Amino acid sequence: MRVLLFKTLRVFSELNLQADFENHKIFTMSKKYYIKTFGCQMNFNDSERLRGILKTMGYEPTEDWKEADLIVLNTCTIREKPDQKVLSHLGEYRKIKEKNPEALIAVSGCLAQRMGWELVQKAPAVDIMFSSFNMHQLPELVNQAQAGYRAVAILEEPPEDEDRLWDFPTERDNPYCAYVTVIKGCDKNCTYCVVPFTRGRERSRPLESILAEVKTLVEDGVREVHLLGQNVTAWGKDLGLSEGFALLLRKVAEIDGVERIRFTTGHPLDLSDEIIEAMAEIPQVCDALHLPFQSGSDRILEMMDRGYTKDFYIGRIEKLREKIDTIALSTDVIVGFPGETEEDFKETLDLIARVRFEQIFSFKFSPRPGTPASEMENQVPDDVKTRRMSQLLALQKSIMGEIAREYEGSVQEVLVEEGRGDGTYIGRTTTNRWVSLQGNDKLLGRIVKVKVKRSSPFNMDGELLEVLR
Ligand code: SAH
Ligand code: SF4
Ligand code: F3S
Repeated sequence: MRVLLFKTLRVFSELNLQADFENHKIFTMSKKYYIKTFGCQMNFNDSERLRGILKTMGYEPTEDWKEADLIVLNTCTIREKPDQKVLSHLGEYRKIKEKNPEALIAVSGCLAQRMGWELVQKAPAVDIMFSSFNMHQLPELVNQAQAGYRAVAILEEPPEDEDRLWDFPTERDNPYCAYVTVIKGCDKNCTYCVVPFTRGRERSRPLESILAEVKTLVEDGVREVHLLGQNVTAWGKDLGLSEGFALLLRKVAEIDGVERIRFTTGHPLDLSDEIIEAMAEIPQVCDALHLPFQSGSDRILEMMDRGYTKDFYIGRIEKLREKIDTIALSTDVIVGFPGETEEDFKETLDLIARVRFEQIFSFKFSPRPGTPASEMENQVPDDVKTRRMSQLLALQKSIMGEIAREYEGSVQEVLVEEGRGDGTYIGRTTTNRWVSLQGNDKLLGRIVKVKVKRSSPFNMDGELLEVLR
């Protein structure tokens, strides 16, 4: 097998590997793909786009990797655990070649971007590698691999034509709620984080491209759009749009048929007053915000290079609650960042107790190769991280229990997303809580008024009062 390693776009384009989708369709007709996705919502949306590309190429999905002609592993490398999961899946998937020597294994996403050729050395069964920079090149890569080459296309920078990706449709499972990626990459430099390395610097997707996709989605029956980016609140800056993300929210809301808008992930520094005002004014923007704080200690926040203090974060929350009193907040927090003392950790607990988040995603600090925090002194031992984590979870559990009880007896608007087949239907409130209710298929995709009968931290039972729209 000849080995090709494309390190840069220049080499890649010199080889003149332009897509010819019609030809691919003929070439790969009736083959099956299996895709496994790790990581964040952006990676899930990337997989939806990859599924769209594979459909264009004539591939059909299968739920069983053993039946696939092409396995795609769309990877994450945010912490050590996802890395390990990917490697163990690769160990399993390579067995496919015993039964079907023509089968191809592709690795995409952030671990592929971070490790490049090193990953192929660890997992020689990998035939194809690319990342979020060049998903649109999948057809050429499959073509090369089918011709017997190893197609590793890990680029140092996103290629100039990366916006071609938006020309492909997405394949979604949820007919009513759709992810729409609006900005790629991240310009922050949090000292613990690999995302700027794996996803590159911020590149906002052009406004027209976003609006065109949202229009198509709505025509397709979508009622809720979820705008995505590692730092979605920075949208528009690189396009020279001074109104930025607030403008995007207004433009998306103007599209007929958009009933709900969510977005992830906001960054406290970029959550401007203009954005908060737009959130409050636009009726379709849901009463929920995911706003990671990472640590409650100013000292640790500085070491993380987050660019704000605990008071600044709390100030943003106060402003949000002043404008949108029903807003439900969720967050991310890191436990055991290098040098974190008991005092620092207490500040984190204090912030949690003061803000009272509806949901917290907490992570033990995981040193990532090449990041400044991985080389900092005073790394916190794992047993200390574990103990602090369980303290944090205990506090959060009690807060969630209290918040759950506050929902009981309240009336909520729910978008019904799915039937369970036994007369039970589930949907989410605008505050992003799952509610189950009894009904019929006519409720699917409808926004209904529900009275909450029983509520626990992760789900609620409700009674249907009225179909709204
Ligand atoms: N862009 C988002 C989050 C991206 S990653 C933001 O800035 O908030 C998702 C979450 O993973 C982060 O919020 C952080 O809490 C966690 N995370 C990132 N790197 C980590 C690391 N090295 N160790 C532990 N958790 C980490
Ligand atoms: Fe990572 Fe920080 Fe960017 Fe979030 S803002 S993706 S944590 S560098
Ligand atoms: Fe993981 Fe990459 Fe998302 S590292 S969290 S898949 S941006």
